[in-house]
Amino acid sequence: MTHGIPVLVIATRNPGKLREFQRLLAGLQAKILSLDEAGVSITVEETGNSYEQNATLKAAGYARESRQITVADDSGVEVDALGGAPGVRSATYTGPGQSDAQRTQRLLELVAGVPARLRTARYRAVLAIARPGRGPEGVTLFRGTCDGVLADAPRGNNGFGYDPIFLVPSLGRTMAELSDLEKDAISHRGNAARAALSYLKELLAAGRLNGD
Ligand code: IMP
Repeated sequence: MTHGIPVLVIATRNPGKLREFQRLLAGLQAKILSLDEAGVSITVEETGNSYEQNATLKAAGYARESRQITVADDSGVEVDALGGAPGVRSATYTGPGQSDAQRTQRLLELVAGVPARLRTARYRAVLAIARPGRGPEGVTLFRGTCDGVLADAPRGNNGFGYDPIFLVPSLGRTMAELSDLEKDAISHRGNAARAALSYLKELLAAGRLNGD
């Protein structure tokens, strides 16, 4: 706790992701810190085979270091025409050192010739919430998805990753053409964070009662 306000650590060193979680969790009475702000210098590698395993590894590993309630996420994009790939490998499936634009281009090549009605895809996010001193068994998971269709070519400059080719059919725009708030309202991480809100409220309130 800092001056009576409970702390919540977001397991990221990416300022964009921190800002996203600060927006999504704005309803909580908590000081939301990144790993660096919480004084955590270690890196927990994503060595699991599922979003759940990776999110759990990160949340528990970083909670041990920060000694604070810690939220970690793992996410990816699943393309039906590719049997759900790249999925949990979304960040790395084209090899190390590649840019978002290169990964996006590769995905477009993989679905070249697939007709629009079969280009369905979904973003998936798993949020893991760890309490210090409880280990991986004490982690609670929340999930969110967001359905879309892969566009033929990139469009828009907002967001990151696959957003320029992830078309949201109900809006007729790609994720990269949405404002932050529009994306938050429908995104996989937004949906997972909304599912986690009341649990986090309870956790933070219980911590306040216990004085930790
Ligand atoms: P991680 O969750 O940090 O392991 O990364 C998952 C990967 O999935 C990212 O590097 C992106 O390639 C992709 N991804 C996850 N969420 C999004 C999103 O909201 N927009 C675009 N790409 C995403």
